[in-house]
Amino acid sequence: MPAASFDFDGATIVVIGASRGGIGAAIARGFGDAGAEVHITGAEPEPMPEDAARFAYTQLDVTDTEAVRAYAAGFASVDVLVNCAAITRRGEEMAPDFFSRVIDVNLTGSFRCAEALHPALKAARGSVINIASMYARFGSPRNPAYGASKAAVEQLTKSLAIAWAPDGIRVNAVAPGFIVTEQSARARQDPAFVAAIEARTPAGRWGQPGDIAGAALFLASPAAAFMTGTCLPVDGGYSVV
Ligand SMILES: NC(=O)c1ccc[n+]([C@@H]2O[C@H](COP(=O)([O-])OP(=O)(O)OC[C@H]3O[C@@H](n4cnc5c(N)ncnc54)[C@H](O)[C@@H]3O)[C@@H](O)[C@H]2O)c1
Repeated sequence: MPAASFDFDGATIVVIGASRGGIGAAIARGFGDAGAEVHITGAEPEPMPEDAARFAYTQLDVTDTEAVRAYAAGFASVDVLVNCAAITRRGEEMAPDFFSRVIDVNLTGSFRCAEALHPALKAARGSVINIASMYARFGSPRNPAYGASKAAVEQLTKSLAIAWAPDGIRVNAVAPGFIVTEQSARARQDPAFVAAIEARTPAGRWGQPGDIAGAALFLASPAAAFMTGTCLPVDGGYSVV
């Protein structure tokens, strides 16, 4: 069964950070399956082969303001921007320089892309989906920069929702639980951590990237027309325990 059955026929979707087959790629595939024209980006020179065959791909560093502006200038109208680009390095985030780098990619990068695409989003009366995290609300001793960046992404979502409501733009976030992707590969090398997440998650498992796509499509769809500034947990119940 598909994750969701929404109709995005004719819509233009931009997914930032969809190159590694993780959550961004799953969201791009969901919008593609729903009929949209999907554009994806990432830090890598190439996306996953199946996505290269389907979507327009651009290598784009979200910390490069001029590059982000130049990319955005190619769009007259964008129905949905999904901000998925992020980094984390468990155990290395007490180093001030790396802390700043994480904030620059995860928080300022999301803002850069949204700000640069604001005119195109306004033209379509579109919406933005930011990707937060459980670590936006819970402390993480080994990922302090990541947690701070994601809490700020959630807060930024609220502020942009208010700022851009007069333009007809909705801004929401999804907070995934623990998902099997390249980003979590390092943490998943620790069997005790893997088991602890499974034990705490009422659904009893780690999520897959496809588990997140339905929520992104829903938030971007007319079914969520009265939702803005919200952050939707998609976490197998992790956050309610
Ligand atoms: N995997 C999880 O458990 C989990 C949980 C909560 C939230 N998230 C979030 O989901 C989103 C997608 O992550 P994922 O787990 O699919 O990992 P991923 O590593 O597959 O995706 C991260 C993407 O960010 C891109 N990226 C990294 N640095 C960049 C830069 N400087 N410029 C542009 N792009 C850059 C990568 O190229 C990649 O496409 C991220 O925001 C992540 O924080 C993941």
